[in-house]
Amino acid sequence: MEAGAKTNPTIITIFGGTGDLTWRKLIPAMYNLYLDKWLNSKFSIVCVGRQEMTLEDFISRLHDGINRFSRRGKAKDEEWNEFAKMIFYQKGEFDDPGLYDNIKHRIVQFEQEANCHCNKIFYLAVPPQFFEGIATSIGNAGLAADKTYSRLVIEKPFGTDLKSAQNLNATLLKMFDETQLYRIDHYLGKETVQNILAFRFANALFEPIWNRNYIDHVQITVAEKLGVENRGNYYEINGALRDMIQNHLFQLLCLIAMEPPVSFNADEVRNRKVDVLRALRKIKKEDVHNYAVRGQYDAGWIDGEKVKAYRQEPDVNPESHTETFVAIKFFIDNWRWSGVPFYLRTGKRMNESISVITIQFKPAPHQTFPDEATENWQPNRMVLNLQPDMGIRVRFQAKKPGLQMQLNPVDMLFNYSDTYTSGTPEGYETLLLDVIEGDATLFMRADQVEAAWEILMPIINTWAANPSVNFPNYAAGSHGPETAEGLIARDGNNWIVMPFQKKENE
Ligand code: BG6
Repeated sequence: MEAGAKTNPTIITIFGGTGDLTWRKLIPAMYNLYLDKWLNSKFSIVCVGRQEMTLEDFISRLHDGINRFSRRGKAKDEEWNEFAKMIFYQKGEFDDPGLYDNIKHRIVQFEQEANCHCNKIFYLAVPPQFFEGIATSIGNAGLAADKTYSRLVIEKPFGTDLKSAQNLNATLLKMFDETQLYRIDHYLGKETVQNILAFRFANALFEPIWNRNYIDHVQITVAEKLGVENRGNYYEINGALRDMIQNHLFQLLCLIAMEPPVSFNADEVRNRKVDVLRALRKIKKEDVHNYAVRGQYDAGWIDGEKVKAYRQEPDVNPESHTETFVAIKFFIDNWRWSGVPFYLRTGKRMNESISVITIQFKPAPHQTFPDEATENWQPNRMVLNLQPDMGIRVRFQAKKPGLQMQLNPVDMLFNYSDTYTSGTPEGYETLLLDVIEGDATLFMRADQVEAAWEILMPIINTWAANPSVNFPNYAAGSHGPETAEGLIARDGNNWIVMPFQKKENE
């Protein structure tokens, strides 16, 4: 490694170089890594696209992306111009072997100039139908042969069911070793999501109560105000179950439920997560309706603006049965969690955009106080706010000031914005740096992806065989369908979303 540089010399080839992801996320992330001095001075970004474009035009578009999307705001000219020298545009068709010859030529030249073993990263920021073809061509060109330094990054969706995920894994593993594969779930790059590991495994305080003896149930909500808008083509095939539950919400579930890993070794952490997925109780086909509900948004109002129904969005079948909302109750059949329901819920066009995990504790075993004192009594609750507000809130009972004994719930708050003033890196910054450093802890392994699909297959198959009869069943801007309330109410619970910043206790 070069003196002073924090990472290895790297050449990264992005397939889908003219796409949205590169523009909005990848280049801004790499630019921020550059500004924070994480990148070696020998760093090269080759963006592959099918359009005819001059390098100048291409760079100016990326510059515009930085100015719009970088967490640091507009780029300073001098810094941007230096960074932009690392970027190249490579025109080519993904199925043309000539493209891979050109890429190989660039890599060989880069390695010769850098005079060392460099990271050779290939980033598939393309629709999934191109994954297998590109990965195979990279392999055929001999570019996957360096098992230590050659790495492939793949965006979701990773298959649309168990079979397709298995096939994709099999194809990738013909060319690459598992250790070279980095399947991205951008939720794992989020600061608050990584903090779940710190919270659980760097504190002795919570572990003794983190189990069925003290926890009544767990809720995981990822709600979005956003609609499907121009992603109809993608979303029609996927829907909320595949788009969100199979990956993002399952990852959150794993982090909350996993056993303490012995070390932060990538495989150790991933083994513990796979254990959770394997312990998830598989829902029988005939029971799906008792455990899972689906919804699709109708027209409605979001922030005072009228928005379309899902079926009216571009590229969506006007009679579509694709779900835009899912709520599921899971059980984890192991010693720690036996009998504790985990309620997962996600939806588009909901009343607010919020990602939150709520741990609801069991009531105190004996009620010491007289009835009058306990009118506002509530069991303890811990809320992990992932976004947009970031922090942790613990709710407990305290005496309300006054001459009488009256209990009232109060909150202890850890709020990122009060505690830290430095900017929070974006998920993609963390994840790209991990790929550059060869750390796969926050990436999904083949068995993890397949275990997640396996759990969902009964729901996928049952829903496919029984198209919904009541879609659309919730108005845009609402809490989702009534049936989702029913799912949790049957157990005597209700969905809890606590707004973060509150001066007084509710
Ligand atoms: C993506 C999904 O993976 O995650 C989108 O495909 C969803 O449908 C997005 O909107 C949510 O990510 P975030 O980071 O905005 O919560």
